[in-house]
Amino acid sequence: MKVSVIGSGYVGLVTATCFADIGHEVACVDIDEKKVELINAGVPPIYEEGLGELLQKYAGKKILATTDYDYAVRNSEISFICVGTPSDDAGNINLEIVKAAARSIGQALAKKAGYHVVVVKSTVVPETTEKLVLPILEEASGKKAGPDFGVAMNPEFLREGKAIEDFMNPDKIVVGAIDEKAGKIVSELYRPLDCEITLTNPRTAEMIKYANNSFLATKISFANEIGNICKQLDIDTYEVMQAIGKDFRISPAFLNSGAGFGGSCFPKDVKALIGKAKEIGYGPTLLEAVISVNETQPLMMTDLLRKKIGDLKDKKITVLGLAFKNDTDDIRESRAIPVIAELLRLGAEVSAYDPLAAENMKKVFPAIGYRKSAKAALEGAEACLVMTEWDEFKELDSEFEGMKEKLVIDGRRIIKARNIDYEGLCW
Ligand code: UDX
Repeated sequence: MKVSVIGSGYVGLVTATCFADIGHEVACVDIDEKKVELINAGVPPIYEEGLGELLQKYAGKKILATTDYDYAVRNSEISFICVGTPSDDAGNINLEIVKAAARSIGQALAKKAGYHVVVVKSTVVPETTEKLVLPILEEASGKKAGPDFGVAMNPEFLREGKAIEDFMNPDKIVVGAIDEKAGKIVSELYRPLDCEITLTNPRTAEMIKYANNSFLATKISFANEIGNICKQLDIDTYEVMQAIGKDFRISPAFLNSGAGFGGSCFPKDVKALIGKAKEIGYGPTLLEAVISVNETQPLMMTDLLRKKIGDLKDKKITVLGLAFKNDTDDIRESRAIPVIAELLRLGAEVSAYDPLAAENMKKVFPAIGYRKSAKAALEGAEACLVMTEWDEFKELDSEFEGMKEKLVIDGRRIIKARNIDYEGLCW
């Protein structure tokens, strides 16, 4: 089938390349001409495992990038909205980019004869597709949703770094459509993936995405709360979590306690759902607690540090790990950010190392010392805080020898070295 994908960020570009890989023809639409050029040259503007190879294979053949909405909509049967939905300062969802994309698609639909389906894949709060996107499409196209064009919501469940693997091996595909006709057409796209399609309405599909992410975030904050209690009782929380994970109703995944969750999704999505709940007059106590535990957790690293070495003024402290998780250069909502801010507030001298994310963190903290290796970052330090679960940190051992004092506070249970003064955040 012929598909157009609006937005070539990590969701849009992964969606486009995977659709091409399962046999569809895809037009990627982006307002950024540089991105369009890169994609047409087979060069992904973002890092994602396996994306480069796929784009090389299909760019100029099954994938064409353009800034031209009219061309893309006219030459496709289905358009996916895969643009960003950032948080505003209060943590509520900002839908301006979604609205702009819907308006541009509507304007293109006005000039196109024949039926077309518009699918929202961006993570949007419940009611957005029906109450915001659909009316904009009707108003901009002068056409009627239903008879003239279809509307659906098809959330993604992609983990950064594993997005292609997750797209090609879904445990569920959710299609929330305004009618059977649109639902059938969107479902047809996914037939090669041989995965059961959950057909529902748009608002249910929107809520499935938020409930999925919010539950995963809740598991992590639960693990952190239990970890904080276990630490005071000299209980190994990882032993506890391994045991409860054997309960089929719990599963072992996402019970790793530590410095908390970061990323462009969990914090944003939980806060957006909190905002939506309050908008309809409900106080989401549990969801607010999930965020509160997650915001406190990283500062427990610096509290522990001060308990161990007292005043941090002019002391050299190493931060190992800047990315929000291993195998990515993404620092969005990284738990290293509040930790570095607090170290600087307390007058510490910070040196940092991360295999991929240093360049991105320089935009946030230009004045700290970035080193090319863990060893260099640890040289002369009075303490070290481990913030990201990079596999290479498991191998660190002699690198700690260069420290002035060998205190290592581990926020990710990743350090195996033993000739150090080791302290786990919740263990
Ligand atoms: C997440 C969801 O997994 C994905 O399904 C959704 O579509 C987007 O959001 P992502 O944000 O890429 O994906 O990262 P994920 O691998 O889920 O980890 C999120 C954060 O939780 C990371 O900061 C990680 O360090 C942390 N985490 C994860 C824990 O602290 N403990 C755990 O047990 C698991």
